[in-house]
Amino acid sequence: MSIDVAAARADTVGTGHVTHLDNAGSSLMPRTVADTVVAHLRREEQIGGYRAAAESAGRLAEVYSSLARLIGATPEEIAVLESGSSAWATAVSALPLTAPRVLLSRTEYWHNLLVLRRLADRRRLELVVLDDDASGRVDLGHLQRELDREDVGLVALTHVPMAGAQVQPAAEVGRRCRAAGATFVLDACQSVGQLPLDVGELGCDMLVGTGRKFLRGPRGTAFVHVRREVLDRLEPALRDRRSAADGSGRTEARMLESWETSVAGRLGLGRAADHALGLGLEAIQARVTALAGVLGARLAEVATVTVHGETPPGSGTVMFSVRDLPAEQVRAQLAARTINVSTAALPPPDTGSVLDPGGPRPPVAVRASVHYFNTEDEIDRLVRALRRAPPRAHRGPARGH
Ligand SMILES: Cc1ncc(COP(=O)(O)O)c(C=O)c1O
Repeated sequence: MSIDVAAARADTVGTGHVTHLDNAGSSLMPRTVADTVVAHLRREEQIGGYRAAAESAGRLAEVYSSLARLIGATPEEIAVLESGSSAWATAVSALPLTAPRVLLSRTEYWHNLLVLRRLADRRRLELVVLDDDASGRVDLGHLQRELDREDVGLVALTHVPMAGAQVQPAAEVGRRCRAAGATFVLDACQSVGQLPLDVGELGCDMLVGTGRKFLRGPRGTAFVHVRREVLDRLEPALRDRRSAADGSGRTEARMLESWETSVAGRLGLGRAADHALGLGLEAIQARVTALAGVLGARLAEVATVTVHGETPPGSGTVMFSVRDLPAEQVRAQLAARTINVSTAALPPPDTGSVLDPGGPRPPVAVRASVHYFNTEDEIDRLVRALRRAPPRAHRGPARGH
């Protein structure tokens, strides 16, 4: 089934206000997600937060089922947290990690790297950055050689990088980690909501997703999946009163949550998962990758533009630079024309800058990212704006997420 783009746009208020090409940063919520959040806040206003939460207990429980369905997990394996970074840090820090070596890809998300570096210092672990293959994806031969040493405790992979469209061979990495008995954590913050995900097929022990990007959830929402067999091994730093076990006495991933949370945000996140499932992740992926192909090709036709990364892109993000114009100025000029893009350091950015802070800084480029509700007309709008002479310089924040 293909996406009804006109219906998707009618269901997305923001498409009437902006040309939103920043879905890798923070997408536009569909109407039903925003309505869910606002309706709950109204109930909190009317009857108080605790009673409003009690009234929504059934729907809150369904949030876990929705997220579990989205990635082929069970509700007990899901915890909801407030950001992808904190979800990743909380879950990975709770792993006992008995084997001393940790493998990571060159495009691992920078915050994950900071956490790993801290863990490595405290627990005397060795971080090993895996080579890329000719396509720029993780070199599976290098991965296998490291796994064969039988001293790898953890493998960390970012499925789709913050600054690019390249999809890592996560299922193959998962298969090899499973065979070697190494714990595999997959950062799916840029893939959830635009690619079909199934934790069984991916072979991961942990998967982290954030709400506001391609999943189109509210800001301040994220989730982590922890495989049933790994849950019993977790040693979270903090356990508060709701976080112990399900009725059967078995540990639940919810032990990673803190008790206080945005209930409205959680309900919105569950709604966003249902919405994506309703459209179908295969259909979303097909539309997003086709549109990203158009975006990359049209940008490449602009004489002053350099497109980075492989074409056609494997997912929704295209990185590009404009001759003689810093990325942040391009972003600001486009924002002035109600076209939303963001900026990000080109891959492989973070392994170098985090593990070698004195090393060369990676260049920053413009990040344009499409979702299924975008249109070719919007891409043409972007291209026309880039062809015009740039207005004067503007200063603003330098880094996207
Ligand atoms: C690949 C990747 N992982 C993790 C994150 C962190 O997610 P959050 O901003 O929700 O902490 C981001 C955010 O940009 C990301 O791109």
